[in-house]
Amino acid sequence: MPAFAYLDHNATSPIRPPVLDAMVDALRVGGNPSSVHRAGRAARLHVDAARRQVAALVGVLPSEVVFTSGGTEANNMALGGTGRKRVLVSAIEHESILKAVPWAERIPVDRNGVVDLAALDRMLAGSEPPLVSVMFANNETGVIQPVADVVRLARAADALVHCDAVQGAGKAPVDLHGLGVDYLSLSAHKLGGPTGVGALVVRAGAPFGADRKGGGQESNRRAGTENVAGIAGFGAAAEISLSGQDMASLRDRMEAALQAVAPQARIYGAAVRRLANTTCISMPGVNAETQVMALDLAGVCVSAGAACSSGKVTRSAVLAAMGVEPAESETAIRISCGWNTVSEDIDRLIAAWKGLYIRVTHSDLSQARAA
Ligand SMILES: Cc1ncc(COP(=O)(O)O)c(C=O)c1O
Repeated sequence: MPAFAYLDHNATSPIRPPVLDAMVDALRVGGNPSSVHRAGRAARLHVDAARRQVAALVGVLPSEVVFTSGGTEANNMALGGTGRKRVLVSAIEHESILKAVPWAERIPVDRNGVVDLAALDRMLAGSEPPLVSVMFANNETGVIQPVADVVRLARAADALVHCDAVQGAGKAPVDLHGLGVDYLSLSAHKLGGPTGVGALVVRAGAPFGADRKGGGQESNRRAGTENVAGIAGFGAAAEISLSGQDMASLRDRMEAALQAVAPQARIYGAAVRRLANTTCISMPGVNAETQVMALDLAGVCVSAGAACSSGKVTRSAVLAAMGVEPAESETAIRISCGWNTVSEDIDRLIAAWKGLYIRVTHSDLSQARAA
């Protein structure tokens, strides 16, 4: 049995062993991929191979892949690089979208956390053709968005479309051309690659201007010497995650067991298409922070809704956008499985969750009796 159960893959997915090997190989090369000599050419080979691997993950040409320092940079680049002054973003986007364009118009979502297409259609009727940004799958609930429908509506209004696929790629099939989007963001560490590397995919022919000043790397689309080892690791992770993994049976067993313990526990987005690795669930009457700490003590790592970078837990804006009352959303945790999740991890989570729920409800009962 593993030392602890890591069920927080949507925060970051531990590095896959072949990724480490690919990174070490690339680190040993040592050259700058822009140098023309043999060491530079050797480094360039690693970057080119990874570009092909990442391109294959999302069905694009290698030339459409621009390596970045992660999903945040890719999102920022997309929002700033299209030249569109009007921007529409879904209300459940990641902070790296919402904070990059705080003035953007917000597309509402329904109670299941799915973008409201009728509302988008009305918003598109505005004067200027906008950039629309809708994520592939939500990081807290795993709910998959109707991106192809968003594109269909957007095209009729001459809008460009960006999709943050940071949480989708490697967990569900993502195909830029199948979806029809112009820009797609990816991040290596969500699929078992290293942190600090990602990509913005720019469809050939889509308008794009880089605002970062410096060298001509990435075909003048992202200045700065490439993170060769990180990129090599990203490529390896992309290639492995293409082979996929069935998470749905683990998830379904876990959700059934948790709801058997606490039938009032609500699973957000359960009625619609979700990533098979993600469960966002409330434990009635028990604060999410208490749950995260109690589960950690029991050797299970999960997260509380949207944990911000300082580690302080804030109220989930995603659940708020879905109309969940604050008192309820404060009891929601996110359980996210990944490539190294085994059945025993799920057993450990179920036992710990059940133990906590019984302790809390029993102590409530005894307090009520004593009163
Ligand atoms: C949906 C989504 N977009 C973007 C990001 C940011 O990616 P990165 O950590 O690579 O900057 C995250 C990270 O949690 C995410 O979940």
